Amino acid sequence: MKFPQNFFWGAATSSYQVEGDNANADWWSWEKQAGKENSGQACRHYEMYGQDFDLAKGLDHNAHRLSIEWSRIEPKEGEFSQEEIKHYIDVVCALRARNIEPMVTLHHFTNPFWFSSSGGWTHRRSVERFLRYCDVVTRVLARHVHFWITINEPTIYFSHAYLFGVWPPQEKSCLKAKAVHDHLLAAHIQAYPLINKIYREQNLPKPCISISQHMSAMVLCADNFRNRFAARLRDQWHNFEILDKLTRHKTLDFIGVNYYSRHLVDASSWWFGNLLMETGQSHDEAVQKNSLGWDIYPKGLYQVLLKLKRYGLPVMITENGICTSDDDLRWEFLLAHLKSVHRAMQEGVKVTGYLYWSLMDNFEWDKGFGPRFGLIGIDYKTYQRTVRESARKFSQVCKTGVLPVDPD
Ligand code: FCB
Repeated sequence: MKFPQNFFWGAATSSYQVEGDNANADWWSWEKQAGKENSGQACRHYEMYGQDFDLAKGLDHNAHRLSIEWSRIEPKEGEFSQEEIKHYIDVVCALRARNIEPMVTLHHFTNPFWFSSSGGWTHRRSVERFLRYCDVVTRVLARHVHFWITINEPTIYFSHAYLFGVWPPQEKSCLKAKAVHDHLLAAHIQAYPLINKIYREQNLPKPCISISQHMSAMVLCADNFRNRFAARLRDQWHNFEILDKLTRHKTLDFIGVNYYSRHLVDASSWWFGNLLMETGQSHDEAVQKNSLGWDIYPKGLYQVLLKLKRYGLPVMITENGICTSDDDLRWEFLLAHLKSVHRAMQEGVKVTGYLYWSLMDNFEWDKGFGPRFGLIGIDYKTYQRTVRESARKFSQVCKTGVLPVDPD
């Protein structure tokens, strides 16, 4: 099983989860107030990025997805920190210097504290505020960056923060969730021409812009009409509604896909929550789980990719990974998912890259430091990095573009 020569291979991170000391972000105060594990120094990636990129280079990665921490760039409304802007130029150039293609996310779940405390993404000026930040960042990074993700997982963000009430600001309001959804989409739709305009002004080739869309495979617990109906509804709501809208506006140059697991559909009642949310508990096809209890379901990635054919756009896997203390299982996971990607490519889906989540263990939001997603292990006492065996096996794939036939 061979992948094309120019395929992007690498891993992803996000600023808040790895950098440490993001004291101006809304999560920072929330994790304390909610009594959650504190992100603290996270992986100290803010100062250790050079060392981390050396490891990525040593593992034959040719691409790396990172995010810019808005709360560092604009710690107070309208005040932009030249020092932090310089930091991210250095970070991106450090990747370039190692021949690693930077893929930059502008919004990965966290907001500046000032932004959230004045209504966050429910505020009617949220889009304009985001665009101002976008403008500043794009202008300085345009020369060094070709791939942009404006917003990471809009569906997960607005549902966890405004519908299920598990992430800051812990709201449970359909009205607010709808406003946040609309503003996030508007932010992307307006950022798209803005970023393009900056590239034109700087005489640079047109950039590639997308979002990272969280996608899940929908699996029926029992094959009946109600479950089929619920699965369709959920597929549309969770996977496609946003992509439909953004492609209608012609604001996606490719589709960024984050894939982790399946949803079990067991719609025992017509209540909308039951139709739209994860309700099924068990399934005849028993599968292994990651350490957070998410089902490991590689063929779902193939199924999701095939459904993306309808858009006729290139696809990049911007996240796919497993948290586990069993590194052999990590490699099995990787290999099985890569086989799914390859199969989808053979059936005509143009996949251009695969970024594993994550380069290193990190701060997994409300779950803290327990889940270990990294290709590289972190000792949170010494901040020492240890390259895992799975990372070395993945490195062979990155280097050769060839999947080994049997897991060893
Ligand atoms: C995704 C997030 C990422 C990470 C993984 C495990 O939904 O984008 O930040 O937390 O899940």
